[in-house]
Amino acid sequence: MIEFFPPDIFEGDHETLFEIIREIGLAPEQRFILGDHTARFERELALNLGVADVVACSSGTSALTLILHAMGVGPGDEVIVAAFGCAPLAATVVNLGATPVFADIDPWTMVIDPSDAEACVTERTKVLLPAHVFSVMADMPRLREIAERHGLRLVEDSAVAQGAVLDGRPAGLWGEAGLYSFVQVKSFGTAGEGGVVVTDDPELARAVRMLRNHGQDGRRRFLHHVIGYNSRFDEIQAAFQLHRLPGLPQRLERRARIADYYAERFAGLAEHGVLAPPPGRNGRCYYVYTLLTERRDALRDHLARQGIAGHVYYPRPLPAQAAFAGYAPAGRRWPAAEQASRRALSIPVHPLLTDAQAERIADAVCTFASGPGRP
Ligand SMILES: Cc1ncc(COP(=O)(O)O)c(C=O)c1O
Repeated sequence: MIEFFPPDIFEGDHETLFEIIREIGLAPEQRFILGDHTARFERELALNLGVADVVACSSGTSALTLILHAMGVGPGDEVIVAAFGCAPLAATVVNLGATPVFADIDPWTMVIDPSDAEACVTERTKVLLPAHVFSVMADMPRLREIAERHGLRLVEDSAVAQGAVLDGRPAGLWGEAGLYSFVQVKSFGTAGEGGVVVTDDPELARAVRMLRNHGQDGRRRFLHHVIGYNSRFDEIQAAFQLHRLPGLPQRLERRARIADYYAERFAGLAEHGVLAPPPGRNGRCYYVYTLLTERRDALRDHLARQGIAGHVYYPRPLPAQAAFAGYAPAGRRWPAAEQASRRALSIPVHPLLTDAQAERIADAVCTFASGPGRP
């Protein structure tokens, strides 16, 4: 079986992980959160990215909440998000008392459609919140220009795009703030939960840093300047991520090479009703590799019969989910998001795939596209 996410993702790091647990667990200071490892991890990541500040916190969802809270998003405010994507995009907005406004997506890249995002702007819009989801970054130059023209704050949900670089600028650094998620399966996943906020704005960084630890400023405990959250970062995760950081470019390159190979193999499949993502390296992070086909379920079954696991992100657009139905204006449709939820199938692209496995996957997709049932 070729798994969608490799179960042995940290196999080469087990000894180091156990050593870190031993070291931190037995250290005289008994410091398990927000200690020296976290501070060093934040500094190294900031240096690596060329950004002014990095604030480590408990998850990508929490990072998004801290940013939006620090920007003062609350009741009466609207935040524009894509109608197709992960729940935290809209849930973080709702949990702050604000209103998510859903814009449709580009039918091919499946990221927010800038024209539709602009059409969603009202006098209540506070934040434009694009997310880079299916390996392709949103059109940040256009979104930036729209945000500037309408006086909106621009936040980039780069949770799954760590490592993508668009026109020389990394994902996360196009807006006023960005974030990365470290859940195991992400491009810089860890053996647990975690996330970071990245920003060049020192005031925003200061506010986020306070909010992540109950509104304290890090100098004196039990002095609460604002009401915050418990979103502290774990020392074991920090030490483990410091250990994994130098290998990140190599793992990203492996993902990108597999994607290059798929792009080559799948280039002629569009006429057979199987559409691969636009090829290339600019603005890409191959966290997933997602095909579009009207015969999505048949493709998934075909791959499964060959021992290859596919993954459906996401079976419904956000406004069609029960949780967010109250934020879907009556009669409003999101045709591209609806189409994507019917057609998208992601195939394995993780860095532990061997060349032979990538070839087996590509062969299986090509056989399906040219086989019976093709349009
Ligand atoms: C685009 C996007 N934003 C935010 C998140 C939330 O990250 P986390 O799972 O670390 O809370 C995810 C998680 O999958 C995501 O895909």
